[in-house]
Amino acid sequence: MTGDIVQDESRAGYERFRQMLEAFELPVFCIPGNHDDPVLMAELLMTPPFQVGGDARFGEWRILLLSTFQRGEDAGAIGPDGLAELDESLTRFSDEHVLICMHHQPIPMGSAWLDGVGLRDAEQFLSIIDRHSRVRGVVWGHVHQASDRERNKVRFMSTPSTCSQFLPDSDFFALDDRPPGLRWLELESDGRITTEVDWVDPAEES
Ligand SMILES: [Fe+2]
Repeated sequence: MTGDIVQDESRAGYERFRQMLEAFELPVFCIPGNHDDPVLMAELLMTPPFQVGGDARFGEWRILLLSTFQRGEDAGAIGPDGLAELDESLTRFSDEHVLICMHHQPIPMGSAWLDGVGLRDAEQFLSIIDRHSRVRGVVWGHVHQASDRERNKVRFMSTPSTCSQFLPDSDFFALDDRPPGLRWLELESDGRITTEVDWVDPAEES
């Protein structure tokens, strides 16, 4: 869950999220988005099957849950401490394939208003990624649209929103008429990522 789990920062919102997701009896990894309240997340999502931040291992893979949350801001930043911690984690996990999950986009989406609320320290983030050859992918939310690009052999992907979508390439805020969507990823043991976006067909809803 790459952030903006709720829109209204409400306790009831997180309680509902918890109730809906725990029914699947699967681990749920969460990071805060600009609309989240990390204090409430710490209180309501810190016990299994939920995990906020940190990392997790799946076979040959290490998943890093990187916070880009900045209180009172729609833009994000990792900050000096977070960047140092990321560099240290990537050194520690240098014999595993790594997927980094975050909320804010670390590369521009080509949409002026959205890129104004992207990741402020993207340059520092990318220079760290460039130093660690086992980083295979970076995935984020926030931009309410799908994208999948490659940069220096690393896959950079955004996922659509489970709510409404933003119109790609628009310089001003505008909604797209696509339905809710999600991105699934299969992490292959040789480091490859197989991924696809699923758009929810309203006709399938019951
Ligand atoms: Fe966001």
